[in-house]
Amino acid sequence: MATFLSHSPEETRSWAEQYAKQLSPGDVVLLEGEMGAGKTVLAQGIARGLGVEEDVLSPTYAYVNSYAPMFHFDCYRIGSVRQAEELGFADYFDAGRICLVEWSENIAPLLPADCKKILIRKRGDGEREIVT
Ligand SMILES: Nc1ncnc2c1ncn2[C@@H]1O[C@H](COP(=O)(O)OP(=O)(O)O)[C@@H](O)[C@H]1O
Ligand SMILES: [Mg+2]
Repeated sequence: MATFLSHSPEETRSWAEQYAKQLSPGDVVLLEGEMGAGKTVLAQGIARGLGVEEDVLSPTYAYVNSYAPMFHFDCYRIGSVRQAEELGFADYFDAGRICLVEWSENIAPLLPADCKKILIRKRGDGEREIVT
């Protein structure tokens, strides 16, 4: 387990940009932490590390956003595992892209067995603890 203390959103993005370098196609990364902790900020940094040039915005209403090398899921509003199945989530995980998943607890039965995890936790104004 490794812990990093971030002092700003940009520092979190830079940390995530470096983290992205060890990822391989098909990896699934669970982004964990409470609302507003910085899961989407982590996704922005990982995207940068993967060479994504588009802006990464929260997919809260779309459930999943697609970028060339990755998918970014936000399962906060997923009502049931069945709904996620109907949205074809299993196919996304099998597509050989890097998958970043916020609120993965809502789709737990659909997750592959060997997911990576990043936990981000509020420590104070602008401070976040990032645990891998
Ligand atoms: N060190 C930090 N790292 C990441 N986000 C931070 C940090 N300090 C403050 N923030 C703010 O916290 C919020 C995180 O939002 P977001 O990434 O959308 O959260 P989540 O996706 O976990 O709900 C942003 O408004 C961001 O500017
Ligand atoms: Mg988010």
